[in-house]
Amino acid sequence: MKHPFSSYRKLFPILDNAVQLSSCSQSALSLPVRQAIDEYLDVWVRRGADWGYWMDQVALARAEFARMIHANAEDIAVLGSVSDAASAIASALRFDDGRPEVVTSMLDFPSICHVWLAQQPRGAQVRLVQAEAGRTDTTQRIAAAIDDRTALVSVSQACFYDGQIVDIAATGRAARAQGAIQFVDAYQSAGSIAIDVRAQEVDILAAGAQKYLLGIPGIAFLYVRPALARQLVPTVTGWFGRVNPFAFDPAQLDFADSATRFNTGTPPMMCASVARASMALLNEIGVPAIEAYLQQLSAVAIEEAASLDLEVASPLDPAAKGANTAIRIADAAAIEARMLQSGYVVSARNDVIRIAPHFYNTADDVVGALRELARLTR
Ligand SMILES: Cc1ncc(COP(=O)(O)O)c(C=O)c1O
Repeated sequence: MKHPFSSYRKLFPILDNAVQLSSCSQSALSLPVRQAIDEYLDVWVRRGADWGYWMDQVALARAEFARMIHANAEDIAVLGSVSDAASAIASALRFDDGRPEVVTSMLDFPSICHVWLAQQPRGAQVRLVQAEAGRTDTTQRIAAAIDDRTALVSVSQACFYDGQIVDIAATGRAARAQGAIQFVDAYQSAGSIAIDVRAQEVDILAAGAQKYLLGIPGIAFLYVRPALARQLVPTVTGWFGRVNPFAFDPAQLDFADSATRFNTGTPPMMCASVARASMALLNEIGVPAIEAYLQQLSAVAIEEAASLDLEVASPLDPAAKGANTAIRIADAAAIEARMLQSGYVVSARNDVIRIAPHFYNTADDVVGALRELARLTR
């Protein structure tokens, strides 16, 4: 199978020595990212404290994320993690107006479920929809659970465990039909699955930089549809959520007129430098082309796993899953360590090993990892 992005492999030094297939956890370090970190340190050494440069890095990172999801930069807040982003939204919801329910699923990332569960003392009732690995009916199950008592539907677009995809346009429609809003956790999809918040009519979407965005933890982006942002008043805040963060008036609490009202304290500038560089690379290539290629790698993974008699926990239809192909393995954590000794960086979660390629991986990478997995587990 031809690798359409082979010319980019030289930007990822680790690929000379190892096969990194862990984008569901941490993607490979690229030279542009290393350069961005070096530049940040260099500016610090040369100029001491350069607020202008720092704020530019944050603005550039927001602009790259906005470009990737077809939003405007001013509709994006910058926070420290996706959990923080969900908590910021939760802080703006009230559950005492006849809509106490948050609908989410058992396959959402636990951290985000915990954010909604933490709202129970404020009156929230969390409905955890049953969802199973490898199935393709989670979209319908979530949609069916939404009713006129639902305040918010929280959906993980691509599941951290088995990679299964939820159709966020469909769950969003179901939410809207009942007067509810939707929160999309795009941490496992951004950078590997094309997102268009306007075409998909997304209310709220959050993603961090460590996984398919090729960056590091410490930064997350939160898109909020402009008209909705103006209606939501956060009860956690900080100076960067103000109309003018540099007004320095302790008595004046105003909220910025867009998603940036969800900003809190000083943004993570160094992480923003990294995210700016990594997302510029992804935007240069184009996420739709990356998504198409990763679907081909999924087909390769599913076919190879079947021929090796490995049990696939992910959906068997490449179109129903993201880049991650999860293989059920007893003692997955120990096997992850042995795979590393064999030169394969993969990611264990509970009872699965996740093979999660990005655009820089080849079909041979995926096949080689599965064969090594089969060898180590026999
Ligand atoms: C789908 C998904 N959502 C949320 C998280 C947690 O994000 P954070 O640590 O930024 O809160 C993860 C982390 O792996 C994830 O995979």
